[in-house]
Amino acid sequence: MVTTGSIQLLPELSGLLQVPSQPTLARSPRHLLPGATVEAIAPVRFSLVVPTYNEGRNIERIVALLSDQLEAVLPHRYEIIVVDDDSPDGTWQIATQLTSRYPNLRVMRRQAERGLSTAVIRGWQAAQGEILGVIDGDLQHPPEVLQELLAAIERGVALAVASRNVEGGGVSTWSAMRRFLSRGAQLLGLVLLPDVVSRVTDPMSGYFLVRRSAIAEQVLHPLGYKILLEVLGRGRIEQIAEVGYVFQEREAGESKVTWKQYRDYIRHLVRLRVSLGRLGRFQQRLNFPLGRFLRFGFVGLSGLVVDMGLLYLLHGILGFGLTRSAIVAAELAIINNFVWNDRWTFGDLAQQQQKRHQVIKRFAKFNLICLMGLILKILILNLLFNGLHLNAYLANFLAIAAVTLWNFWINLKLSWRVTQVK
Ligand code: GDD
Ligand code: MN
Repeated sequence: MVTTGSIQLLPELSGLLQVPSQPTLARSPRHLLPGATVEAIAPVRFSLVVPTYNEGRNIERIVALLSDQLEAVLPHRYEIIVVDDDSPDGTWQIATQLTSRYPNLRVMRRQAERGLSTAVIRGWQAAQGEILGVIDGDLQHPPEVLQELLAAIERGVALAVASRNVEGGGVSTWSAMRRFLSRGAQLLGLVLLPDVVSRVTDPMSGYFLVRRSAIAEQVLHPLGYKILLEVLGRGRIEQIAEVGYVFQEREAGESKVTWKQYRDYIRHLVRLRVSLGRLGRFQQRLNFPLGRFLRFGFVGLSGLVVDMGLLYLLHGILGFGLTRSAIVAAELAIINNFVWNDRWTFGDLAQQQQKRHQVIKRFAKFNLICLMGLILKILILNLLFNGLHLNAYLANFLAIAAVTLWNFWINLKLSWRVTQVK
């Protein structure tokens, strides 16, 4: 727990999006205070994440309704985790003020990372329960359905999804356009990822419960809004239950859905398709980040072009000395490679470490590793050419290949390494 003044917040998490098989954080210390009742020490069974962005006008009501529902079936043995992305309307602040009235409420304020899906997973990472869940914070998901979802999980299913497309489900007053887009998105999912999307009637649902054991230790790679796709695609989900619900109209605040969500959804489908397809499975067995390596190699080639081009410009055209030209060309190629690797090859990792000093540190490490790579390359080249008497060009090619692999690996482990911050 982090204390800001007298207010307690869950620490913001970083690193891989991976739910541990055992909860990592101890319960809030207040439960261990002398005089704590037995119920208060009883382990948390269910952790419900409420992702929020500018839900200041809804947060109090949703917390009250959820607490009512959960107290009735799991007295004291649940937690409600609000994960707020530093909303300008101060949702996280309003939520922290509610914790004195609702002791099972926890709040995470995220300042570095953004986005609905990652918010949900970060909440689960901080969760204590064996059963994990998610519900929207705008009251569009009726809290009454929770009890049925919980009952389904207790009956043994791995995943319980609130669905608009089974009996008892629906949308209240959606426009024809929104219905069409929603169905179109589902159809596209069925074409691209039939094995995943066809398992539930409402793959777009953002209201579901899942057993921790079904997703524990899996590294998740969500994009955009549709976290359920990720759970279905990468989780170990055997039995699924669906419970009908009617998607309510929003009374306060605004939907955050824009065209970007549709684009992200399609990219997410494609990404899942690739990693669950034959190549993805092969790669998993190989336990080598093949896609990343290919990107790294591609960037390396672009660096070669920059290097050669500049050498030609500086030495060939402008007439600077060869050594001086080569050094400048090499350094600019290194900068080129760093920028592309930071944006693209390791973009997902870099995104989590955007502070100025973190970027500079990465750049310094990258430079050092390139320099060491150069020395290594000359050593290997000499060994192959002078020692094993290989053809000079073959030797050079092999040396480049070996050093690229080495550079990639060391950079992955050192420059773009993500440290788990608690
Ligand atoms: N932390 C965080 N960060 N929360 C977010 C973010 C974000 O970037 N974006 C949205 N949220 C929160 C909202 O505050 C709300 O509680 C919830 O996520 C859903 O966002 P809305 O913007 O209200 O989404 P919607 O109602 O249009 O979309 C919903 O569509 C599905 C049905 O098609 C999805 O969110 C699903 O949950 C829902 O089932
Ligand atoms: Mn909504």
